[in-house]
Amino acid sequence: MPLTHTRDLFAKALKGKYAIGAFNVNDMELLQGIVEACEEEKSPLILQISKGARQYANPVYLKKLIEAAISVTTIPIAVHLDHGDSFELCKQCIDEGFTSVMIDGSHLPLDKNIEVCKKVVEYAHKHNTVVEGELGQLVGAQHDDGEEGGGFSKGGLYTHPDEAVEFVKQTGVDSLAVAIGNSHGAYKFKGTQHLNLDRLKAIKQALMNAGLGDYPLVLHGASSVPKDMVMEINKYGGKLGEDAAGVPEADIEIARRTGCTKVNIDTDLRLAMTAGIRKVFAETPKEFDPRKYLGPARARVKDLVRHKVKNVLCCAGHAFD
Ligand code: G3H
Ligand code: 13P
Ligand code: ZN
Repeated sequence: MPLTHTRDLFAKALKGKYAIGAFNVNDMELLQGIVEACEEEKSPLILQISKGARQYANPVYLKKLIEAAISVTTIPIAVHLDHGDSFELCKQCIDEGFTSVMIDGSHLPLDKNIEVCKKVVEYAHKHNTVVEGELGQLVGAQHDDGEEGGGFSKGGLYTHPDEAVEFVKQTGVDSLAVAIGNSHGAYKFKGTQHLNLDRLKAIKQALMNAGLGDYPLVLHGASSVPKDMVMEINKYGGKLGEDAAGVPEADIEIARRTGCTKVNIDTDLRLAMTAGIRKVFAETPKEFDPRKYLGPARARVKDLVRHKVKNVLCCAGHAFD
């Protein structure tokens, strides 16, 4: 099957109240683990590639690996640029055949973010490619009442509902990544902090009220950083901090039901691979055949992705909706 468009995947996911997992790919083992789990679970899939992944693996290798994955599977697969940081990089990926790109202008002032996003949208739509924009900053949970001392001050770092409407209307972007206390990596929250799901609901409602319909939102930083995996890594010689913490799966469920149609997961894949490799190294220190440690690491990735698509994102069984 050829590459699929996230536009089609999102429309079906919004209707079915499930989310599509966007899993980061850097190498063959990650790709195989992700794709095999989704194929077996009949799950639609977004493979996402960051600028760093392109630098690590070489874009040509990644493209060919994904072509191989597509040729041995039946499920719909979209390929997405994760955190594109310039028009030029987005254009390059569009020209290479990505079906979706993210332009991340979230560090820019609103007008500049709108400007670059609009430019990417114009080029992408001419080339039948879908665009994700981002508004607000992925700084993690914090007090975000802003200068007005309550409500949704535009001075805050979280996505502001009114600005979300303005951003989507002015840019014509196809989906919006929101900042609601989410962040990347393995150290997301301190103590009992978590996502601001009320803010998420307010953003969704504002877009609906503005006539933008059931608009697709994107949740970055959606890894759960499972405690047992962190403990296993440390048992086998790792030194992850006790404050490692991710997004509770219950929060992801609410986010999914609120219209976070694309849910980004990278850190949990990294943890799964690391746990697999460390276990082999610790238990069989004489081993030096990479297949003997990369194989188990790939199997851990597959187990993790199976769990996500079945129990967290609920997109298993929806490949052919
Ligand atoms: O957004 C962060 C993703 O986890 C990609 O990370 O830039 O290290 O490839 P990376
Ligand atoms: P995590 O670090 O939580 O896996 O988030 C990944 C991500 O948002 C990629 O864009
Ligand atoms: Zn991200």
